Amino acid sequence: MGERKNFAVAIDGPSGAGKSTLARSVARELGAVYVDTGAIYRTVGYCAWRQGIDPEAAEEICALLPEIQITMGYDAEGLQRMYLNGEDVTKEIRLPQISMYASRVSALPEVRAFLMDMQRDMARRHSVVMDGRDIGTVVLPQADVKIFLTASVEDRARRRWEELKDRGTPKDFDELLEEIRQRDYNDAHRAAAPLRAAEDAVYLDTTGNTFEKSRGQVLEIIKEHIGQ
Ligand code: DC
Repeated sequence: MGERKNFAVAIDGPSGAGKSTLARSVARELGAVYVDTGAIYRTVGYCAWRQGIDPEAAEEICALLPEIQITMGYDAEGLQRMYLNGEDVTKEIRLPQISMYASRVSALPEVRAFLMDMQRDMARRHSVVMDGRDIGTVVLPQADVKIFLTASVEDRARRRWEELKDRGTPKDFDELLEEIRQRDYNDAHRAAAPLRAAEDAVYLDTTGNTFEKSRGQVLEIIKEHIGQ
């Protein structure tokens, strides 16, 4: 990309809309770094879970923050890895019970503030495709492209069901559907940086799409905005 300044693509949306798979794939195509911000919140959620702390006990979670160091890195295949006090917890943060912990701790403004610099710093140093809930609205309001990615709740539960089955930690479909509804509600109704589309975001509903179709649509939107 020669002398071109760094660009930033913000992809926000509810759980299971396909953000991470799509963002990772288009980042590779564009030569940008993929930043999965959900993984950062999951690391805090995992830390609370491991220490037996109620994820809604604000005081206890806030007391935990100065004690912990969260860092991220990339392995030889370019996959993002998360470290908690230097320990690689990339796998552990995907345990099914951590999803709700991450959603709960992410409602605390102190947690959001604690993780903000880390996210902005990535975008300062690299061209990024960053996915999350508040990237276009709060973390990178100046992003070159903002996409709000969504799909029906049934489609999202089905994708999550397949993902967990492939990972060897299957879960009941109805339970997943209920959990996704609950997480949607938490993520959209919290006071601190609730999930919503930025005014200048392009809205993309991937219900019923194949991965290739959604990928093509996302790339088209990005290329329209950054002229690659
Ligand atoms: O994308 P994910 O499911 O891995 O995210 C886990 C939780 O973290 C999700 O329920 C909401 C929260 N989150 C957030 O509040 N802000 C972000 N930018 C990313 C994730």
